[in-house]
Amino acid sequence: MPMQIQPCDAERDAPRIQAIFNHAIEQTTALYEYQPRSLEQVQTWLLQKKADRLPVLGLYSAADTLQGFASYGPFRPWPAFQYTVEHSIYLHPQAQGKGLGRPLLSALIQAAEAQQYHVMMAAIDASNQASCALHQRLGFQCVGRLKQVGYKFGRWLDLDFYQLQLMTPIEPTEAGPVR
Ligand SMILES: CC(C)(COP(=O)(O)OP(=O)(O)OC[C@H]1O[C@@H](n2cnc3c(N)ncnc32)[C@H](O)[C@@H]1OP(=O)(O)O)[C@@H](O)C(=O)NCCC(=O)NCCS
Repeated sequence: MPMQIQPCDAERDAPRIQAIFNHAIEQTTALYEYQPRSLEQVQTWLLQKKADRLPVLGLYSAADTLQGFASYGPFRPWPAFQYTVEHSIYLHPQAQGKGLGRPLLSALIQAAEAQQYHVMMAAIDASNQASCALHQRLGFQCVGRLKQVGYKFGRWLDLDFYQLQLMTPIEPTEAGPVR
């Protein structure tokens, strides 16, 4: 199936993004959340990304249906972390297991380089083998495991941190990355 990657549209895509988020919240440990997100929360999240000039990239099938999305935001809210982002990637359940995560995450890496970031971080539930494998395939290294920092579905959850070092920026300054 031919796929296209382009920025998500806050208005059109919000319901589908909500459905993808809420499946991950209700059925998996990909997100350490208990309550589904409302449409309003998702719309606010999308608008904030736009205001902050942070990408939300969508993977669309030929029928223009959103099959997944990927985004990043600040890693930690202090100035000296400004060249580091923490990202996330979510595919619709029917789009998983088909190798579609790779082009979407690759596009997000390109976006981070274009914006002159230096490090991408992913916090991945240690039992999420597909996500760990996907990140390793694209050059991320597991740099540590936080043990039992989560609790969901009646069990403790370990969290793995994966890191990708980018070649950008050529000349870092305290003024920060380009957006
Ligand atoms: C995690 C996710 C992004 C992965 O994308 P995907 O396109 O479904 O990934 P795939 O199933 O094609 O697998 C990617 C790679 O991992 C490998 N893999 C998949 N499941 C695996 C498993 N259980 N054990 C080991 N390797 C596995 C695949 O073989 C593939 O490797 P390859 O590129 O060498 O063929 C996607 O499944 C998803 O959105 N899941 C739900 C939300 C989520 O977990 N998001 C990540 C939060 S950190």
